[in-house]
This record gives sequence, C-alpha cells and structure tokens, in this order.
Amino acid sequence: MKIFVPPIKSQGIKTKLVKWIFSNVAENKFDRWVEPFMGTGVVAFNIRPQKALLCDSNPHIIKFYKALQTKEITSGLVRSYLKEEGSKLLKTDGQYYYEVRERFNSDGNPLDFLFLSRSCFNGMMRFNKKGGFNVPFCKKPNRFAQALVTKITNQVENISQIINNGDFEFKNQDFKETLKEVESGDMVYSDPPYIGRHVDYFDSWSEEEELILNKGLVDSNAKFILSTWLSNKYRINDYVFSIWKDSFITTKEHFYHVGGKEANRNAVYEALLSNIKFEYSILNSEMKSRIELNESQLTISEREYKIPTQLSLTLEEEQKHMIHNKK
Ligand SMILES: C[S@@+](CC[C@H](N)C(=O)[O-])C[C@H]1O[C@@H](n2cnc3c(N)ncnc32)[C@H](O)[C@@H]1O
Repeated sequence: MKIFVPPIKSQGIKTKLVKWIFSNVAENKFDRWVEPFMGTGVVAFNIRPQKALLCDSNPHIIKFYKALQTKEITSGLVRSYLKEEGSKLLKTDGQYYYEVRERFNSDGNPLDFLFLSRSCFNGMMRFNKKGGFNVPFCKKPNRFAQALVTKITNQVENISQIINNGDFEFKNQDFKETLKEVESGDMVYSDPPYIGRHVDYFDSWSEEEELILNKGLVDSNAKFILSTWLSNKYRINDYVFSIWKDSFITTKEHFYHVGGKEANRNAVYEALLSNIKFEYSILNSEMKSRIELNESQLTISEREYKIPTQLSLTLEEEQKHMIHNKK
C-alpha cells in the first residue's frame, strides 16, 4: 500500500492515520476538501481530492507548498540544493546547520525550511516567541547522504505531481478565516493542536478556540471530521463529551513507546469526530456510557476497515485509471 509521505516533517503528522481517515470518507461525496490546519498535508495529499483548500497559520508551510505549485521549487532543484548544502554540513561537522537556521530565520527561504525540517532533532517543527525556528541539529553531519537526498527528492516529485494534478489552493491564515470560507458542499477535515499541549509561536491552542471551531463547523452546514484523542492510560479527553457531545465518534487504538522501550508500550485511543455517521461510528453519548460501564472504547479493529483502492495505486497507475474512467 502506497502512502505518499510529504517532504516536510512535523511531530503532529498523521501518516499512520491516513488509511483509517480515508476508509471513513471514501463513501462520502463532497465538492471540496478543506483543511484549516493542514500541517504537512499528508492527509489531503493521500486523499487527493479534485478540489481542495488547504490552510495553516504557519507561513513557512504554505510558502513551501505554494513554491511546489508554481514550480519555483522542483525535485531537480531540491536534489542539487541538498547535495550542495549537505556537503557543507558534512565539512563543518554539522555546524553549518546553525548557519542555515540563522539564514532561514532572517529570510524564510522555503528550501532552507526543507533542509531544517530534515536535519533537525527528531524532525520537529517548533518556533520561538519571535517566530524563529529553534530546533537543534540532529547531530548527524552526514545527514544528507545520497540515499536520503534521493528519498526527499522523490517525495518532492510525488507531492508536486499530486498538487499539480488537482485544483489545490493554499492559504496562510488563521482557522477563523478558513471557517468563513467554508461552504455547505465542503468536507472539512480539522486537525487542530491539542488543547494546552503546545507552546509554540504558530501552534498553540485553547478551549476558547476549540469552542469557536466547533461552532464554526456546526454553523457551516458542511460535513466535518475532527481528529482528536479519546483516552490514554491516564485520562479521558473530556472535551469529546462537552464541546463535541453531539458528534458521532469512531476510534482506533494506536501504540507509542515511551523512551523507545517495548515494555513501556502505551495505548492511546485516537478518535474521529464527525457530524456524519460513518460505517463504524457511534454516537458520542453511547461512547460515554461505554466508558462509564467500563466497556470497550474501540469502535473498529485495524483489520476490519477497507483500504480505498487509490492507496494501492502508484501515481502513474492512478492517472491511467482516471483517464480510463473519463472515457
Ligand atoms: C496537529 S498539526 C496538523 C497536522 C497535519 N494533519 C499533518 O498530518 O501533518 C496542527 C497544525 O495547525 C496549525 N495551527 C495552529 N494554530 C492554528 C490556527 N489558529 N489557525 C490555523 N492553523 C493553526 C499548526 O501550524 C499545525 O501545522
């Protein structure tokens, strides 16, 4: 199965949830796919709607994807840029990373953004109070060895093709502006930051904002899906049963390892909340009773959901498939 991974990395990336999200929306029709919080864009780029409005408050993300769209950045350019900058990184035993970071923080070049995203510690995206990228180096001076340069170049090529095959609009704006543009035929996928978790220049989130998001989505009359979490070993996300109480919910178990140790394997229940009923979703009120009765919080197991055909095709195969369907 082919998931197209975007070249930009971020701690909130939903690569592991794409199949599941897609399996839920596959049966639903919509005129336009809207993401007020696109982040890396992995969800939209794999769903590949014909028409999309993709927004984020982080200007660097939007600038990068707009540059792919206008072909100001191409895979060929990325290859030569990373080769050259990667060799400077190696020669300076990694010190060059900080030169690029300083340069990026003064002129915001999208190629430098890619360089930082792929050579910073843990592929994190974090900005300080002044909006400056402040993640340290991953401490691998030979980070841009040929294999990685090829991998990133291919990612840029694939995502550029996907963008250019569709009618995609990228906008650097706050979610409140995006909500104003939502129309009733849209499907809005929202993946906001978790409340109170992040303290980042472009990425903080409060209860008040979650309330505004809820009201905006409900009032829009569009179909919406919200990614969030239901519970982990320690607590339940109470907002699911307050702000989002009138939604449907579908959940999936996701494991993460604390400190990379198998013994510290913790489960978190990821949730999709929606105003539409998916095949395996239930009402939030029913989930609430399940929790009170100590019953399963899972609405579906991994093996059950159908993988949309599109995710098993290469981009070339998909193009042929589309041409064939148009005949
Ligand atoms: C959890 S991430 C989205 C991850 C994305 N679904 C992915 O898979 O890569 C949340 C995104 O919301 C953006 N964001 C935070 N506050 C925002 C706001 N007020 N308006 C618009 N975007 C915002 C952040 O910059 C970040 O990219």
